[in-house]
Parts: sequence; structure tokens; C-alpha cells
Amino acid sequence: MILEGEKVRLRPAAKDDLAAHTRWYTDPEFRHYMGPPGKTFAALLSPPSNQVNFSVDLKDGRLIGFLCITDISTVHRQCDLGPLAIGEASQRGEGFGSEMIRLALGYCFRELGMHQVHIFTSEFNERARRCYAAIFPHEQRHRECVWEDGRFWDEIYFDITEEEFDGSDSD
Ligand SMILES: CC(C)(COP(=O)(O)OP(=O)(O)OC[C@H]1O[C@@H](n2cnc3c(N)ncnc32)[C@H](O)[C@@H]1OP(=O)(O)O)[C@@H](O)C(=O)NCCC(=O)NCCS
Repeated sequence: MILEGEKVRLRPAAKDDLAAHTRWYTDPEFRHYMGPPGKTFAALLSPPSNQVNFSVDLKDGRLIGFLCITDISTVHRQCDLGPLAIGEASQRGEGFGSEMIRLALGYCFRELGMHQVHIFTSEFNERARRCYAAIFPHEQRHRECVWEDGRFWDEIYFDITEEEFDGSDSD
């Protein structure tokens, strides 16, 4: 499955993408926001049956990031977006993250038949918060559950339903 946007393309993640993941995780800023790579690497190589992994390319074919759809529940028709990232630091803040999330939401609702999709980030990840808040209409905090930089931070959860996404998508 390939999801074509205006600026980015989501395609199935491949083993050849691992070298880029390894390079991204050597960037201290990236690790600060993403945590250790273990789970992401393992899932990329052999995803569980309730997970779909996309790699994110620019239209010229350059690999810039990844997005995993996780914890897909066909009973409750819910799933999570993440882990996800624009791995190439120079490509952040250009609208690519927002576009890849909207493409993934379209896939979740229209292809996977989800009713609701969640995403979360830590309070200290200002860019992710702004990106998610602009797309997901509902937000709630789990207080002081992340220890980072010598203090506790809130975790912030966002969600969107299929009706809300269809409404925002047809604007
Ligand atoms: C979080 C991430 C996916 C967002 O993607 P992006 O392409 O950088 O974001 P976009 O360009 O689509 O911008 C989204 C919003 O963030 C804002 N933003 C951009 N750079 C920012 C910065 N340095 N600080 C704060 N906000 C910033 C944009 O202005 C935009 O908000 P707006 O709509 O109110 O103007 C990406 O930055 C990233 O991968 N970061 C590192 C890894 C990470 O944090 N992953 C998510 C873990 S939960």
C-alpha cells in the first residue's frame, strides 16, 4: 500500500531502511524525543499482526522518516499512531509531519475501518504537541508520568474519530 500526498509518500517499511534508522538514533535530539530504538527496530524487522509500518519518502525518493500504526483493534476499531518521526533533522518544521499524519489517518479510517485513532507525546515535545493539536480535536493529560531532564512531565494524549476526520478532511 502506497499513500501519496502532495509532499511525501508513505510506503511499506523495508529492511533496507534500517541503516537510516540507525543514523537517526545517533542524533541526541532525536533520541531525546524518541527514547531508545529497541522496540522500533524489532517491530520494523518483524511487525506484530496488529501493526503496519510505513517509511516516509519525499517525492524525489529521499527517505526522511517513518510512521507505525500500532495496537490495531478490530473489535473496538481503534489504533495508535506512533512511533513516528521525521528522522532527517533538516526536514523538520516543513509540514511533512503534518502531512504524513493526515495520510495515515485517511488509511486508518478508510482502509482499516477504524472508528477512533490516538496519538500521544510528552509535554516537553513542543513541536509534536503543536503538530498533533492542529489535527486531533481532543486532548487530555496524564499528569507527571514521564521522567526526563531531572523532572516529571505530563504525557499528552490526542484522539480523533472518523466523523471528525471526514469533517476536517473535506474543508
Ligand atoms: C514531531 C514531528 C513528527 C512533527 O513533524 P514536522 O514536519 O516537524 O512538523 P510540521 O512542519 O508539520 O509542523 C507542525 C507544527 O509544529 C510547529 N513547529 C515547527 N517547528 C517547531 C519548533 N521547532 N518548535 C515548536 N513548534 C514547531 C509548526 O509551526 C506547526 O505548528 P502550526 O501548525 O501551529 O504552525 C517532527 O518534528 C519529528 O519527527 N520530530 C522529532 C521526533 C519526534 O518528536 N517524534 C514524535 C514523538 S511523539
